[in-house]
Amino acid sequence: MAKQKTNYICQNCGTVSSRWAGRCDSCGEWNSIVEEALEAPIASGGARLGAKGRVIELVGLDGDRKEAPRIASDIKELDRVTGGGIVHGSALLVGGDPGIGKSTILIQAAASLARAGHGVVYISGEEAIDQVRLRAERLGLSDAPVKLASETSVEDILATLNADKPPALVIIDSIQTLWTSAVESAPGTVTQVRASAQSLIRYAKKSRSAVILVGHVTKDGQIAGPRVVEHMVDAVLYFEGERGHQFRILRAVKNRFGPTDEIGVFEMGDSGLREVHNPSELFLGDRDNPSPGTVVFGGMEGTRPILVEIQALVTPSSLGTPRRAVVGWDTSRLSMVIAVLEAHCGVKLGMHDVYLNVAGGLRIQEPAADLAVAAALISSLAGVALPSDCVYFGEVSLSGAARPVSHTPQRLKEAEKLGFGKAAAPMPGKIDTKSYGLTLEAITSLSGFVARIAAQAPAQRKD
Ligand code: TYD
Ligand code: MG
Repeated sequence: MAKQKTNYICQNCGTVSSRWAGRCDSCGEWNSIVEEALEAPIASGGARLGAKGRVIELVGLDGDRKEAPRIASDIKELDRVTGGGIVHGSALLVGGDPGIGKSTILIQAAASLARAGHGVVYISGEEAIDQVRLRAERLGLSDAPVKLASETSVEDILATLNADKPPALVIIDSIQTLWTSAVESAPGTVTQVRASAQSLIRYAKKSRSAVILVGHVTKDGQIAGPRVVEHMVDAVLYFEGERGHQFRILRAVKNRFGPTDEIGVFEMGDSGLREVHNPSELFLGDRDNPSPGTVVFGGMEGTRPILVEIQALVTPSSLGTPRRAVVGWDTSRLSMVIAVLEAHCGVKLGMHDVYLNVAGGLRIQEPAADLAVAAALISSLAGVALPSDCVYFGEVSLSGAARPVSHTPQRLKEAEKLGFGKAAAPMPGKIDTKSYGLTLEAITSLSGFVARIAAQAPAQRKD
């Protein structure tokens, strides 16, 4: 009998090598390389290596579709992220830290779709049937006609699914718990995760059922991260949030059928995840008592404007190298804004610790926050409270110029809608400044803007 061939596969990044090593050359993770049997050549697709293929039918781009292309749930925030609903026959990966709420949102989505008359199968490999039922009962979803099973064998799952009319949606919680007998590795290894995902994705394409796979993201080398599955699926959604905060954000990082920069905002409560339709109200703090270092940033997440409070604290440092601590923004971007303030605006922060926080546990990714961050830093340093009814946004370039950002009209509209009276931002040339119920302060350079804030300092300190 031929000797069984094996490979050494990093469980963190999926890199294949021919020998074992203590540390993966590719991702640098320690103790993540595991010996795995090579996949049998006949395992995938059932076709023998070297066998003759059959002739497939080639068709045009234009043709009849028999069904609605998407399954919309009544969870609007979820539909927004998927691009208007889950596409039939597509495979989705929902990733996130353990305990963030993946099972909760999916059981809620399953119940909502089942109540709307769609066939939904929920297969839990992690929890026993009773545990899932208990959760459903707590969430008030027990009456929804979801078909539930607790199973980990891919062959058994596929045999069950193939025995009946294909459901509209199959949820697998989670991909790491599945195992298929087509490959010999242990459950949870990269090879198993990849082979199991492949079988389920093939089922999705063939049956036109949408398949949602749950994947845990963990640094622990024991469980394979779902990253190897990311390129196989049609859409990848990440569920994120700070543990101490109630807010959870569903973010599309890949979507073959919709935009990737959309977010859905949820709040975790006693009765599961509640949709947050107006996130700006959530991320804004108490605006009645303006305090130094607090400004409101007019941000965008996908197609939706979101106003967020940015807080800065600048204090004299007792350390040789002052501290720079950032929550919810990019540390290198903060260093850049500080450097521009020092080089072009005469602001000296070299002897100060700087703390920056984005309220509500949101992570801001756009450079449009530069101006708001600069305003927060100056406001804290000078001890000047900025007007609480003003929003700030704009990109700052290394030369100290303020540059207009995309979606300026939407940002201004959102500020107006939420009762703000002013906006300070670089204005694009084509904007009609009179069509907003806001006093607009057009910013062209950071130095002029900083000087105007600093000039208020003595006036405020008098009282
Ligand atoms: P869960 O969906 O099990 O997380 P995941 O599947 O991503 O591992 O969520 C578990 C957390 O959510 C747990 O810490 C408890 C919390 N939770 C609530 O606060 N309220 C609820 O109604 C539910 C169902 C869970
Ligand atoms: Mg879970």
